[in-house]
Amino acid sequence: MSRVGFGLIGCGSMGVHLATQANQVEGAKVVAVCDPDQERASQASSKLGGVPTFANHNDMLSLSEVNAVIIASPNSQHAPQACDAAKAGKHIFCEKPMAPTLEECDRMIQAAKEAGVKLMIAQVLRFFPVFQETIRLVSSGVIGEPRAVRIARTGGAKGIFESGWRTKYAHTGGILMEINAHELDFMRVLCGDVELVNAVADQIVHGVYDYHDTFFVEMRFRSGA
Ligand SMILES: NC(=O)c1ccc[n+]([C@@H]2O[C@H](COP(=O)([O-])OP(=O)(O)OC[C@H]3O[C@@H](n4cnc5c(N)ncnc54)[C@H](O)[C@@H]3O)[C@@H](O)[C@H]2O)c1
Repeated sequence: MSRVGFGLIGCGSMGVHLATQANQVEGAKVVAVCDPDQERASQASSKLGGVPTFANHNDMLSLSEVNAVIIASPNSQHAPQACDAAKAGKHIFCEKPMAPTLEECDRMIQAAKEAGVKLMIAQVLRFFPVFQETIRLVSSGVIGEPRAVRIARTGGAKGIFESGWRTKYAHTGGILMEINAHELDFMRVLCGDVELVNAVADQIVHGVYDYHDTFFVEMRFRSGA
């Protein structure tokens, strides 16, 4: 394949950002976009050189020039759209969180395996220089075996976080999925699998959410950390 043609699913802020970045990679080009909100699809299209727009991802998946998809839709859509993309033989780059439930994640992996396509989740922290250096220092043993890791995130309080799909548990899978998928993933990169979780949750920040927005989580890893 001399060029990878990407179809963008979800033309919101992250989707347009990812598509713009993809177009800067040699050998990659976004060739179509889809969003049920036609205004968003049209705006994304004009930023990406006037590529065709679709309201439904399955219609876009029928294009032969789409070899891979970027999934940047609400979290509840990741699993069904990734499975549809796999069935259509398209490689998948999917935003975090992979999907709100383990069952959905397993379905995505199974669908990609069966179709022989690549599936990658956008756990971006792994690629940030400061985090890469942390991973290098830990995995090379320079700072010894990790016994404790503490990460606190206080952000995502206002603006886009207070409207639309982000206010609904059914679309996000909760705050640990929507926001803290990054920190949880990074701690697993450093310390491995988790064996015990203690958590306290409350709703402190957002009156408009239908789920808890504040968590204190303690994890015990199999490594002993
Ligand atoms: N990696 C990161 O740091 C990071 C940052 C922000 C968002 N995200 C993730 O990116 C995804 C999108 O977030 P966002 O901030 O761009 O949200 P957004 O609300 O700006 O955009 C979501 C878009 O998806 C569209 N959409 C809704 N249902 C759809 C469907 N069935 N098919 C296709 N499109 C559909 C909406 O119309 C909207 O345009 C989420 O999964 C979010 O968790 C990741």
